[in-house]
Amino acid sequence: KKERKRPVRVYMDGCFDLMHYGHANALRQAKLLGDQLVVGVVSDEEIVANKGPPVLSMEERLTLVSGLKWVDEVIPNAPYEITEEFMNTLFNKYNIDYIIHGDDPCLLPDGTDAYALAKKVGRYKQIKRTEGVSSTDIVGRILLTFKQKEAGSMEATTDANVAVNQNTGADTYDKVKSQLSNFLPTSRRIMQFSNGQMVLLTFFMPAMLRSLRSARQLGDFLLVGVHDDQAIRDRRGYRPIMHLHERTLSVLACRYVDEVIIGAPWEVSRDMITTFNISLVVHGTVTEGSSVVGIDPYAVPKSMGIFQTITSPKPITTVSVATRIIDNHEAY
Ligand code: CTP
Repeated sequence: KKERKRPVRVYMDGCFDLMHYGHANALRQAKLLGDQLVVGVVSDEEIVANKGPPVLSMEERLTLVSGLKWVDEVIPNAPYEITEEFMNTLFNKYNIDYIIHGDDPCLLPDGTDAYALAKKVGRYKQIKRTEGVSSTDIVGRILLTFKQKEAGSMEATTDANVAVNQNTGADTYDKVKSQLSNFLPTSRRIMQFSNGQMVLLTFFMPAMLRSLRSARQLGDFLLVGVHDDQAIRDRRGYRPIMHLHERTLSVLACRYVDEVIIGAPWEVSRDMITTFNISLVVHGTVTEGSSVVGIDPYAVPKSMGIFQTITSPKPITTVSVATRIIDNHEAY
C-alpha cells in the first residue's frame, strides 16, 4: 500500500506594502521549502505600531499577495510578531510546519527579534533577501519622480525641469538614475519567475492584478507586453518608477500571466499578432499620464475586430499612489 505523506505547509508573513519583485522572490523561495505556502498579511494597525503607516490598505495588499503564483492561502490581519498564541494558532489551526522570513533582521520596537519564539522551538527557516529593492526605496523613487505642484496636483520630474533647477535638480537626476540601475536580472532569475514555461506597469498595483485576471479569463493563454523605459518616457514625459527588467519580473510573478514580451512596442502591429498567434488584444481603462494625440496603438487589432477594453474597477495609478505618499510624507 502506497503511503500518502501529509503536505509540508510553510508560513511567511509580511507587510507587502507597494509589493515588488523582492517580495515575490521571497515568496517563491518560501514555497520551495514546502508543498503549500500560507501567507500572513500584517494588519494596518500592527504596521502603524511597528513601522509607521503603510501606503496601501489591508484590502489592497491582500489582493496583491493573492495574485502571486506561489501563494496557496492567505491569512488577513496577521500580527507583526510571532507571539506564543499566534504560533499555536499556526501549528494547530493552520497545520503549519515552518515559519519563514528573509535573512534581514526583523526587530520589534523594543529591539527584540519578532521570530525569536519560532527559532527557539526549531520551526524557523530562512530565505535570502533580494538586494536592490524595498518598499522604502520605492517610496524614495516616487518622491524623486513626482513633486507636488499645488494642492491636489502632481508634476513629474522630467529631464527638462531637472535641468532648469540646477541646485536640487542635478542631484535628484543622479539619485533617480542610480536608484534605477541597481538591479540586474539574469536569464536564470527570469526562468525561476516563469516556472520554466516559456502594458504598461510599474510596481504591483491592485488594479493591475484585477485587470490581468479579467484578461486571462477571456482566453487560454495570457501574453503580456511590457513597454521599455524609453517608450514610457516618450509618452509620459517622465521615467517609469521601476525599469523594464523589474517590471518584467513583477508581471511574471502574477499567477494569471503565461508569458511576457520584454520591451513590447507601443503599437500592436500586424506582425506581432501573427508571430504570437494573438486572437484578442485587451487593454484596461486605467491609463497613466497623457497619451500622444492622434496615434492609436490599438488601430490594427481594432481594424481586425480583435480588440476589447476591460474596465478596471478601482483606478489606482502611479500618480495616485504618489499623492498618497506625499500626503502622509510626515509619517515617513
Ligand atoms: N523581502 C525580501 N527581499 C526584499 C524585501 C523583502 O526577501 N527586498 C522579504 C522579507 O525578508 C520578508 C518578506 O519579504 O520575509 C516580507 O517583507 P515585508 O514585511 O513586507 O517588509 P520588509 O522586509 O520591510 O520589505 P520592504 O523593505 O520592501 O518594506
